[in-house]
Amino acid sequence: MKILMVCLGNICRSPLAQGIMEEKIKKYNIKNTFVDSAGTADYHIGKKPDWRSIDIARKHNINISNQRGRQFTYDDFDEFDKIYVMDSSNLYDINALAKNTNDREKVDLILNTIFPGKNKSVPDPYYGGKDGFQNVFQLLDAACEKIATSLIKK
Ligand code: 4NP
Repeated sequence: MKILMVCLGNICRSPLAQGIMEEKIKKYNIKNTFVDSAGTADYHIGKKPDWRSIDIARKHNINISNQRGRQFTYDDFDEFDKIYVMDSSNLYDINALAKNTNDREKVDLILNTIFPGKNKSVPDPYYGGKDGFQNVFQLLDAACEKIATSLIKK
């Protein structure tokens, strides 16, 4: 199972989602599962995650500082089994790149895992304060826990 986490810049939300999911995979000893992240935009290619994401992850004993930003590409549809996007604009952008319904069926808002059918977004914390990052962490932790437990059952 290959999972891709997607946000706009690939420096705040999706690196956290990747780091949290990797931690759950280790914690539950889930085999044959790989996680990566990407941004829809090209603003931060090659950059480290935002220091506020690195900081909140570190507070939970997760190290995301080795991640580097990259942009989503068409090939990711073939490479990944599941593509979790953070918000409705990511969903729009990724669906616009989909080649067919098979591609589109791989894509979902990550919060639909914990709030099924509600189409909620993980708020973009980039322009806000530290509280925003704490909130993002809690939401992504709950979503990744749900994804991880569903993988254990498989
Ligand atoms: P992310 O947050 O999509 O969670 O990585 C953002 C990062 C950068 C920008 C916007 C959102 N930006 O405008 O540069």
